[in-house]
Amino acid sequence: MNVLIVYAHPDPNSLNAALKHYAIQRLQTAGHAVQVSDLYAMEWNAKLAASEIPKLENHRADILREQEKLLWADTVIFQFPLWWFSMPAIMKGWVERVYTLGFGYGVGEHSDVRWGDRYGEGTLTGKRAMLMVTAGGWESHYSPRGINGAVDELLFPIHHGILYYPGMEVLPPFMVYRTGHMDDARYAAICEELGQRLDTLATTPPIPFRRQNHGDYDIPVMTLKSEIAPGVEGFKAHLHQPPSLL
Ligand SMILES: Cc1cc2nc3c(=O)[nH]c(=O)nc-3n(C[C@H](O)[C@H](O)[C@H](O)COP(=O)(O)O)c2cc1C
Repeated sequence: MNVLIVYAHPDPNSLNAALKHYAIQRLQTAGHAVQVSDLYAMEWNAKLAASEIPKLENHRADILREQEKLLWADTVIFQFPLWWFSMPAIMKGWVERVYTLGFGYGVGEHSDVRWGDRYGEGTLTGKRAMLMVTAGGWESHYSPRGINGAVDELLFPIHHGILYYPGMEVLPPFMVYRTGHMDDARYAAICEELGQRLDTLATTPPIPFRRQNHGDYDIPVMTLKSEIAPGVEGFKAHLHQPPSLL
C-alpha cells in the first residue's frame, strides 16, 4: 500500500515528531511505501494567491507535486496537533491550495440526480484517509457532553468537508489526549495503539457518511429527504448509523 502522511508540526523534538517517526517505521516494516509531506520542513506556502482562485491550469509546481502524491497514495494520514480546535493554519493552507478546481472540487456533471462528484465521489475516490491528532485536553473534555464539544463534531468539517468531499473514505481518527501528561509507559502504550491502527488501515470500517448521489438527498436543495432519519438534525444526520468507534 502507498501511504502519504501530511504532517504539520514545527518542532522536530515534539510528541508529534516522535509519533510520525514511529508511524513511518511501522508502515515501512509492514512493507508499505511511505511519503511524507512535512509542511513546516518544506516551508509550505499556505497562502492561496488571488491568481490561484479558481483556475484549472497554471498551477504552481508545489501544488502539482502534492496532487501527484495524493494520486499516488492509497491511504492519506493527516497528522497534526489540535490547535484552537482545528488543524494548524499551515495544513489548512495546504488544503486550500492543493484542492484546486477540477481536483478537489468542481468535479463531475450536475443533473437532476447528481450534484457533481463529491461527498463520497470525486478525484480521490477509492482512497482512505485518517486523522492522527494530539490534544492537550482530556478525553472527557471531548466526550459527547464535554465542555470542548464532542470530538466527532469538532472534526466533522475536516472529516466530511475536506476528506469525504473529494471522495476518500474516512477512518475513525487516532486521537492522543492530555499530551502534557506523558511518561515512557504511556508513550509506549500510545505507540502500541497507533501501531494497531496502522496495521489495520486497509480493513478498518470507515465512518458511514451518506453518499450525496445515492438517493438520500433532495437535489438541488441538498437537504436530506424527509423520510431519511426523520427528526435527526446536525452532523449526525449525515451518518447511515451511529458511529461505533468515535
Ligand atoms: C497554538 C496552540 C493551540 C492549541 N489549541 C488546543 C486546543 O484547541 N485543544 C487542545 O486540546 N489543545 C490545544 N493545544 C495543545 C496542543 O494540542 C498540544 O500541546 C499538542 O497536541 C502536544 O503535542 P506536541 O508536543 O507534538 O506539540 C494548543 C497548543 C497550541 C500551541
